[in-house]
Amino acid sequence: MVAELQNISKHYDQPGSGIRNVILNGISLSVGERDSIAIVGPSGSGKSTLLNILGTLDHPSSGRVILDGTDTDTLDENRLADRRNRFIGFVFQLHHLLPQLTLLENVLLPALPVTDPSVRKMTIERAKMLIERVGLKEQVHHRPVQMSVGECQRAAVVRALINQPRLLLADEPTGSLDASNADLLGQLLRELNTEQNLAVVVVTHSAELAAGMGKIYKLTSGSLNLTKQR
Ligand SMILES: Nc1ncnc2c1ncn2[C@@H]1O[C@H](COP(=O)(O)OP(=O)(O)O)[C@@H](O)[C@H]1O
Ligand SMILES: [Mg+2]
Repeated sequence: MVAELQNISKHYDQPGSGIRNVILNGISLSVGERDSIAIVGPSGSGKSTLLNILGTLDHPSSGRVILDGTDTDTLDENRLADRRNRFIGFVFQLHHLLPQLTLLENVLLPALPVTDPSVRKMTIERAKMLIERVGLKEQVHHRPVQMSVGECQRAAVVRALINQPRLLLADEPTGSLDASNADLLGQLLRELNTEQNLAVVVVTHSAELAAGMGKIYKLTSGSLNLTKQR
C-alpha cells in the first residue's frame, strides 16, 4: 500500500462557544501502487482537508496516516518533511510557479536539496525529459508570465514529479483551466498513473476528470463512500 488513512477524524472547536465543527468523521482509505482515485463532494465538505491530511500537510484530530508502511506519527518533523518531499508530489488549483524563475528552474525547485553533482545532472536531464513529455519543450527557458495557464499547470505537474514520487495528490488541478486544457491535464494524469507506476489521488468538481479515474469516492457529511470502481 502506498498510503493509508485509518479512522481519520477532523474537527474544529469554535473558541468560547463550545460548538464543534466536525469535518471528517472516521474515514478510512487505502491507496494502492497503481490506484487512480477521484474524490468528489460539495464545496466545504472537507475534500482539501482530507487530501492535506493524506499528504501530511495537515494533522487529523484522531486516526492514523500510514505512508509506505510507516505510521507518520512515529516520524519527527524533519523525517516527515523528508519523506513527504521524496514520496509525494502535490498539484494545486493554482500552479504556484515562481514568476522570477524559468520553467526549468521552477521544475527543479523541489530537487534543490540534491547536491551530488552526478545526481544533480541526472535530475536536470529528467526535468528536461518530463518537460518535453508534457509538450513544453519550446518553453523550457520561459518564465510563467510567457506561458498560458494550461501550460503553467502542466509545468506544475512536472514539478510535482521531479523527485520521482510514488503518490501524486492533486487538489482541483483543472479548476482554473478551460475545457481543452482540462482534458489535456486529465489525460496526462491518467498516462502518468499507468506509465510511471504512480498512484494518483485527485480532488475535483469535474465529472470528466473523475470519470477517468479507476475509483470515485464521494465525501459528504464527513463520510467517504465509494461510488465507482473500474
Ligand atoms: N483552520 C480552520 N478552522 C476552522 N474551520 C476550517 C479550517 N480549515 C477548514 N475549515 C472548515 O472545514 C470545512 C472543509 O473545508 P475544505 O476541506 O476546504 O472543504 P472543500 O475542499 O471540500 O471545499 C469548511 O467548512 C471550512 O470552513
Ligand atoms: Mg477544497
